[in-house]
Amino acid sequence: MTISQGGINESAVLDALKVIQDPDLHRDIVSLGFVKQVSIDGEMVSVVIELTTPACPVKDQMREQAETVLRQLPGVEKVYVEMTANVRSASSPDEGRAAIPGVKNIIAVGAGKGGVGKTTVSVNLACALAQHGSRVGLLDGDIYGPNIPIMLGVQTQLETDGKKIVPAERYGIRVVSIGFLTQDEAPVIWRGPMLHGVIQQFFREVNWGDLDYLIIDMPPGTGDVALSLSQTVPVSGAVAVTTPQTVSLADTRRAIRMYQKLNIPVLGLLENMSHFVCPDCNHESDIFGKGGGELLAEQMKVPYLGQIPLYEPIRVGGDQGTPIVMTEPESPAGQALIDSAARLAAQVSIASYETTVGAPEEVALP
Ligand SMILES: Nc1ncnc2c1ncn2[C@@H]1O[C@H](COP(=O)(O)OP(=O)(O)O)[C@@H](O)[C@H]1O
Ligand SMILES: [Mg+2]
Repeated sequence: MTISQGGINESAVLDALKVIQDPDLHRDIVSLGFVKQVSIDGEMVSVVIELTTPACPVKDQMREQAETVLRQLPGVEKVYVEMTANVRSASSPDEGRAAIPGVKNIIAVGAGKGGVGKTTVSVNLACALAQHGSRVGLLDGDIYGPNIPIMLGVQTQLETDGKKIVPAERYGIRVVSIGFLTQDEAPVIWRGPMLHGVIQQFFREVNWGDLDYLIIDMPPGTGDVALSLSQTVPVSGAVAVTTPQTVSLADTRRAIRMYQKLNIPVLGLLENMSHFVCPDCNHESDIFGKGGGELLAEQMKVPYLGQIPLYEPIRVGGDQGTPIVMTEPESPAGQALIDSAARLAAQVSIASYETTVGAPEEVALP
């Protein structure tokens, strides 16, 4: 047994932890300011490491690495590593686009034509992020044809707390849809200025509370809602959803350009319905083609978040209000969505880091 010689001190602990790199930010966790607490009690060392998202894909790996390097320090017998997370904002509010108090990151999902799976992806990404322990909101941006109520299985009328609208809650997510506000089943016909008013209301007159990520399920179409969004709130970024067909890819290319024109960074591209795995014989077929999404991401220089297979239970789950990441998280499709959510969270962390570079107090040691 090693006898403590009073040799353990905070700087030795921090020096040891410096070998651990954040794979996305390419810096060590000490200079990133992730080590929030170091306590030394005789031969026992406890540290708290705070990541920038609870959905961090390498959380367990980092914990093990920290335990290993600390155990190797002379005089250390017991090591406790606690992993926490504090999501940072990746947006830059300005005069015209005030931040929503408590809401750290607004993320638009989708653009382009209907039927590629924007709503499906929005719902499952939101559920996956919430499963990791993030605080998540989901706003149905499809004013004309709201599908979120069906896909989440929520039929309700929203109430107010006296001042603001209170979101519905499902699977730990706070949800608002125009479908909760109108009883009329007929398609709603909005004029441009009215649509802008509704979007503003969704942000300013809803009590969203504290949220790490507010996901917006974008409607199909020309970009009216995206334009409204970009004028109303600071948006952290957008996720483009495509299918592998050439026509869908062309639409997605236009959508990415539209976001870029509106100064909304594209956090990633996700290919949906990318291949079909026969549930009976496991044969894979590329019904809509394959790999086009990844190639497009490369061409447009946007991160590639992954590919989601065409899988019948995704459609069934959508119709029944039971998202696949809740019912079959272990299936290849469920896993692909969960992994894509982690990659998205990592992109938000990178973007937030980039917006704070140059502000050294943000990354200095505590
Ligand atoms: N990967 C998938 N596998 C099987 N069905 C899917 C998949 N993605 C979406 N769907 C189904 O395709 C239809 C259209 O998806 P939806 O999310 O409503 O698209 P969008 O919001 O882009 O119009 C829905 O019935 C949905 O359940
Ligand atoms: Mg939709």
